[in-house]
Amino acid sequence: MVNPSKDIIILGIESSCDDTSASITKNGEVLSNIIASQIIHEQYGGVVPELASRAHQKNILPVVAEALKSAGISKNELSAIGFTRGPGLLGSLLVGTSFSKSLAMSLGIPLIEVNHMMAHVLAHFIKKPSLDIDPPEFPFICLTVSGGHTQLVLVKDYLEMEVIGETLDDAVGEAFDKSAKVLGLKYPGGPIIDQLAADGNSDRFEFSEPAVKGLNYSFSGLKTQFLYFIQKGCQENSNFISENLSDICASWQKHLVKVLFNKLVKAAQLYNITSIAIAGGVSANSALRLKLKEIGAIEKWNYFLPDFEYCTDNAAMIAMVAHYKYIANDFSNFDTVPTARMKF
Ligand code: KG4
Ligand code: ZN
Repeated sequence: MVNPSKDIIILGIESSCDDTSASITKNGEVLSNIIASQIIHEQYGGVVPELASRAHQKNILPVVAEALKSAGISKNELSAIGFTRGPGLLGSLLVGTSFSKSLAMSLGIPLIEVNHMMAHVLAHFIKKPSLDIDPPEFPFICLTVSGGHTQLVLVKDYLEMEVIGETLDDAVGEAFDKSAKVLGLKYPGGPIIDQLAADGNSDRFEFSEPAVKGLNYSFSGLKTQFLYFIQKGCQENSNFISENLSDICASWQKHLVKVLFNKLVKAAQLYNITSIAIAGGVSANSALRLKLKEIGAIEKWNYFLPDFEYCTDNAAMIAMVAHYKYIANDFSNFDTVPTARMKF
């Protein structure tokens, strides 16, 4: 049983994609959150799994050492280690999993497996002295949007979540990144489209919406629609992209955000829920954040935007899930293995 009077000090480790991250939390408050991002993938226009695993292998020890050092915590003070078990790239997950198992075993402390998508949602509960925002109250709906996932999650409690809608094919982050590649922009293209859109006219170009039933999404047809739109534009004018770049980005970003919100509004009405949050890498998008404020005011929502630092992949959110699992005495066996696909 957990001793309630004892501090809960968690080392969180994240290695599901192309960021190696380690974080220390004490009683749910973040003391450090170190992230080593892998720039090697830029030149390939997307994450190369083999290179990602190798980079994690190289980064993990210095990142964990730095997280402990900057938190001022010795490894002997740790209560438990929380690690991302999935979903993600298997080779990348293996690095974090093996490292976490070995360290927890050598220190004689519990091991806690964490679902990466659940962690994106719990990023809303990260406490930091400089963060003066109230977390959402249960139940709430979280639109979780990343490079690999697009989900509408009904969050009933810290560790009780239900996916009520999701993409049937690609994630919205993938739609951002692949369209950026079509435009000749670097990887990851989402933040670059966001920056370029700031100077553009978002009403200049129009796109059609996919017909998907219920609360699910589809982005693969949208990716193709964008590719054909650019190909047609370039056939008519070889300078089409360079002459219209910011308008293209602004119009396309507006469209993707609109598609996301149509289902979010529907979900909120269907479940009669007015507490709405967004999470995941794409929740850093300025048009998405602005739209949440606009629609939130119209629909009378209590809306929640995560701090920028905790939108994209980070280990503080992994440590948060581990913190609540620690309180619930929900520990993992040392024979646990990572899984590329992981449900709640
Ligand atoms: O959550 P995350 O860091 O990693 C995954 O779990 O996938 O999300 C990464 C995704 C990438 O597709 C990236 O392009 C997108 O988040 N992203 C953005 C922005 N910042 C990150 N997309 C649009 N606008 C942004 N500002
Ligand atoms: Zn993520």
